Amino acid sequence: MAINSRILLLGIVFLFCKVSLSHGRANPSFRVKAVNLGGWLVTEGWIKPSLFDGIPNKDFLDGTGLQFKSVTTGKYLCAETGGGTIIVANRSAASGWETFKLWRINEKTFNFRVFNKQFVGLDTSGNGIDVVAVASTPGKSETFEIVRKPGNSSHVRIKAPNGFFLQAKTETLVTADFAGNSNWGENDPSVFVITNTGGLHGEFQITNGYGPQRAPQVMREHWSTYIVEDDFKFISQNGLNAVRIPVGWWIASDPTPPHPYVGGSLKALDNAFSWAQKYGVNIIIDLHAAPGSQNGWEHSSTRDGSQEWGKTDENIQQTVAVIDFLTARYAKSPSLYAVELINEPLAPGASLEMVNKYYKAGYDAVRKHSSTAYVVMSNRLGQIDPRELFPLASGLMGSVIDLHYYNLFSTMFDNWTVQQNIDYVYINRTEALTYVTTSNGPLTFIGEWVAEWQVQGASKEDYQRYAKAQLDVFERATFGWAYWTLKNVNNHWSLEWMIKNGYIKL
Ligand SMILES: *[C@@H]1O[C@H](CO)[C@@H](O)[C@H](O)[C@H]1NC(C)=O
Ligand SMILES: *[C@@H]1O[C@H](CO)[C@@H](O)[C@H](O)[C@H]1NC(C)=O
Ligand SMILES: *[C@@H]1O[C@H](CO)[C@@H](O)[C@H](O)[C@H]1NC(C)=O
Ligand SMILES: *[C@@H]1O[C@H](CO)[C@@H](O)[C@H](O)[C@H]1NC(C)=O
Repeated sequence: MAINSRILLLGIVFLFCKVSLSHGRANPSFRVKAVNLGGWLVTEGWIKPSLFDGIPNKDFLDGTGLQFKSVTTGKYLCAETGGGTIIVANRSAASGWETFKLWRINEKTFNFRVFNKQFVGLDTSGNGIDVVAVASTPGKSETFEIVRKPGNSSHVRIKAPNGFFLQAKTETLVTADFAGNSNWGENDPSVFVITNTGGLHGEFQITNGYGPQRAPQVMREHWSTYIVEDDFKFISQNGLNAVRIPVGWWIASDPTPPHPYVGGSLKALDNAFSWAQKYGVNIIIDLHAAPGSQNGWEHSSTRDGSQEWGKTDENIQQTVAVIDFLTARYAKSPSLYAVELINEPLAPGASLEMVNKYYKAGYDAVRKHSSTAYVVMSNRLGQIDPRELFPLASGLMGSVIDLHYYNLFSTMFDNWTVQQNIDYVYINRTEALTYVTTSNGPLTFIGEWVAEWQVQGASKEDYQRYAKAQLDVFERATFGWAYWTLKNVNNHWSLEWMIKNGYIKL
């Protein structure tokens, strides 16, 4: 009996050790109450649009889609079959094959990328004037100047590298052999009316948009004024205990990152660590933009909407090296609380196999330098099982699954009432969170949420109830939560504004 109870006691002690170890920290009841520092070290234009104001031809940034309607044929240019062959001018409506994505060389000079990802160029293996879309990388033959009509910038001419202008000679013959000036008349086959289908406003666009002369100054000014020491003071005094800081892969090659990125973001991150230490704030470093882009969105710094991350072992190794660099640099700081290996990889482009491979290697890179930092693994977005990372993560001590919960970005939420949104949080988000909360699996983190929705004209009280509902539910996440984001020109997306105006109290 005495022996048995000693064994039992030992067992309990052993179990307790295991639990506290698997949480990686002394206090297992601690929960992260964090805010994201979005739009700081990784640009997102919608968070602070004025950053782009000084860019010349700022409607022609990398990734912007243009459609060209010939004024003579009244038809749109089209990459026949989506690319790989000739350019024609016989489409009466424009969609994917008729949309040309810009790669910006400078404010006047561009490459045009077609649906199947080839670049428009001159047929150098033929007569040298036929316009085709066959090159997989752009060179001199794929480089064009866009000349805008004085007084109406939606009329353009396109100057080819041979010095001549493109013309729609017939509906099936587009050539670069129109010489000389234009009076911009309706009978000029070198004139096209453009439709701009919109663009991206991420780090690639802003740095390449300003160009090597101006970008360093603009970005360093932003980094040193957008988030300052006082923000950490505000955070520590308003019921928050952590920040999640999105960073881009180029930070690891500071101060001389590859074109078009600009050095200096590492210095800004250093400052964040010293302010965090001063005010007792924990830091979650979040690799928000991985090389090649893990989701094709501007916030992962895609150039043109392409998603190329994770397609090769070399790319994965390059990403692991970024995690290795960041963890090595900050492992000794008492403020380093967690490293998030990548934000929002998107299925199916980011395959589970590649993500698992990366997460295992990324985890090891963190552990090489730190035995205590949590390692956060973002669930893939898309049609996935929210427990798909469990087989890997359950075996890794101090691992955390990050889930992002927005009542947005889906037509499902269209026309929902205030109460429907709130019920969905209390009922369905609770269910979803319960599904991923297990006693022996990874911890759970709601790394992004916001008190914004698709309800029009909601009152302050509505917002307060909605925010409270989310706080009530998300505080059950075993690692914690992080609001998106601290500052934003859209008030409800700014936790600072929400706190200062009494919408959210922590
Ligand atoms: C510019 O051209 C477009 C297309 O022809 C036309 O719709 C628009 O009204 C013109 N704008 C100006 C300012 O003339
Ligand atoms: C446009 O021209 C190409 C090349 O001749 C032809 O294959 C295609 O069917 C044409 N499309 C339309 C809509 O006329
Ligand atoms: C939402 O309401 C608008 C306006 O009444 C309607 O046009 C739209 O179809 C509705 N959307 C859904 C998904 O029900
Ligand atoms: C929310 O959960 C309830 C109860 O499980 C379910 O009946 C309902 O269909 C769910 N709503 C949505 C939109 O998934």
